Amino acid sequence: MNRKPIILLFILAVILLSLLISKKTSEKNSKNKLDFAGNKDLIWIPPDIRKIPNTEEGALILYGRALVINTAFYFGPKATIRKAGNGMNCQNCHLEAGTKVFGNNFSKVANGYPRFKDRSGQKESIEKKVEDCFERSMNGDIIDSTGKEMKAIVAYLNWVGSNTAKNQSPPGAGIEKLPLMKRAADSSKGRIVFLTRCQSCHGKDGEGKLKENGLGYLYPPLWGKYTFNTGASMYQISKLAGFVKNNMPYGTTYAKPILNNEECWDVAAYINSNFHLKKETEADYPDRTKKPFDYPFGPYVDNKFSEKDHKYGPFIIMKKYYDSLKGH
Ligand code: HEC
Ligand code: HEC
Repeated sequence: MNRKPIILLFILAVILLSLLISKKTSEKNSKNKLDFAGNKDLIWIPPDIRKIPNTEEGALILYGRALVINTAFYFGPKATIRKAGNGMNCQNCHLEAGTKVFGNNFSKVANGYPRFKDRSGQKESIEKKVEDCFERSMNGDIIDSTGKEMKAIVAYLNWVGSNTAKNQSPPGAGIEKLPLMKRAADSSKGRIVFLTRCQSCHGKDGEGKLKENGLGYLYPPLWGKYTFNTGASMYQISKLAGFVKNNMPYGTTYAKPILNNEECWDVAAYINSNFHLKKETEADYPDRTKKPFDYPFGPYVDNKFSEKDHKYGPFIIMKKYYDSLKGH
């Protein structure tokens, strides 16, 4: 008797079955975690807010979201909980409650911590990073790291990043890294960009405009006593320029930026050439080889470039030097 066809049929059935099973499991995985590695065009999409469950955990996530959107109400100068911030909201810099593509979103927070941070030279939790933004970006005090508010903010951050896999930085995460310019960023050119593109909302002296009830800003301040201090990430012009590119003037999106890269670098130079409150930064980057090229405060490991060079560039040679220290 010829058994070949039966054996062949059996093998075919096994192959079909295993294909089916592997498809099922991969569907199941991708349902929970999006895999961006294979598809560079797939831009990050935040989870759907309407799907936050109607549970205690869901309520905590929504409270965290409210804290991010209306921080000034809870922690501003007229705070209902405690005065801890300068009147800004997290959302002023983390647009759409930290869910906007290249709007300084929180997509890689949930799966990126605890993480070793070069600035503190320590392994940091999400709570520590939130405290950093309170102390630097909001020029305020840290809040109770075990209190309900911190728990809520962390629950919200975890929810925003719930569809990204461990240590993954999905396309559109955080702030875009702009290509470096050959020349230094020029604050006098930036002043012209500011006058024509930004002043109408942020004010002649970058002072912004408070809401009528005084709880938060209609237009947040860009310099002066009531905005981010010199220890904040926005005080590094690469971060500020990258933020401006895809988000300002207000309403701009990554799909249709309005300013070109040079205008972004220059306006960032202008904003940060104006007064910001001083934060003690001596202890930052205990390993000086890890200092970002545009960190505007020494001491530096290079002995070649001044604080002014580090603040405004040109950055290309500087960055090459720092990359070489890291063995890139
Ligand atoms: C003045 C602007 C500003 C304000 C206000 C601000 N932040 Fe930030 N925040 C930044 C910048 C800039 C970064 C650095 C982003 C980067 O390095 O790509 C950052 C980083 C973070 C990160 C880490 C992101 C990551 O991917 O690792 C978290 C978490 C965070 N902020 C939370 C908050 C919370 C919560 C608040 C309000 C209490 C807040 N921030 C207020 C500007 C701000
Ligand atoms: C139409 C009004 C408008 C214009 C014009 C505008 N912005 Fe903004 N800007 C806003 C608003 C509103 C926010 C806060 C967003 C939020 O809370 O959702 C903001 C936030 C910011 C922030 C982060 C918060 C802070 O205060 O540091 C920066 C930086 C910024 N803008 C820079 C600029 C620059 C640079 C320009 C010009 C290129 C510009 N903006 C033009 C309305 C505007």
